[in-house]
Amino acid sequence: MTKDGVLLSCIGSLMLSVMSLQAADLKSAVEVPDASKIIQKDQLKPPHKWVMPKGCISTDANTIAIGKYIFHNLNGKKAKGKPPKGLSKKQMKPGKTYKPGDKIPPKQYGNCVACHNIEGAVGAGNIGPDLHNYKKNFIDTKARDYQYVYQQIADSRIHNKDSRMTINLTTGLFTPEEVCAITSYIVSDKK
Ligand code: HEC
Repeated sequence: MTKDGVLLSCIGSLMLSVMSLQAADLKSAVEVPDASKIIQKDQLKPPHKWVMPKGCISTDANTIAIGKYIFHNLNGKKAKGKPPKGLSKKQMKPGKTYKPGDKIPPKQYGNCVACHNIEGAVGAGNIGPDLHNYKKNFIDTKARDYQYVYQQIADSRIHNKDSRMTINLTTGLFTPEEVCAITSYIVSDKK
């Protein structure tokens, strides 16, 4: 190879490597973030079968009052009156200690009245079945048992894959104790 030839081939390979560098840079510049991971985070967890804990259904007045309060209210900011003992208007994280003045978000309640009528409901919706006389009509007749009601509130998709109800336990919106309180309220004797 002549002197010029060596120089030309040197320039040539230099240009090639610059081009491939540019190509790599361009590729990383237009690369999109992996959207499937973001979508997955927003997606609901798959339907889950829950077993009612022991001693779940209670006739204790305070437990039933908690269930009733969650049923009839949307959240701790909109709810009127003092919540029953054992229920907060704020969503505290378990195990976390709070200082005075800390911002704590309002607790989310069930707002079940948006879709269900029941004894004493104000402005109830009718997307879901009327739950008046639930004990007499559904439990005493054995049309439903406690476990069915518990599962319906915990994750209704087990009963109906196209259910339009909110998913309360699989999503972590409520604790098992809260689902028990709501169930106890629905199946309780009401005036
Ligand atoms: C967006 C509307 C909606 C909301 C909110 C809602 N439900 Fe429902 N609910 C339904 C529908 C619709 C059904 C009928 C079955 C289904 O689609 O899962 C139902 C069914 C039920 C049943 C079963 C009745 C039976 O024996 O057949 C119970 C119990 C119940 N809901 C309780 C609740 C409770 C408690 C809450 C609040 C934590 C609630 N629902 C919130 C729409 C709703």
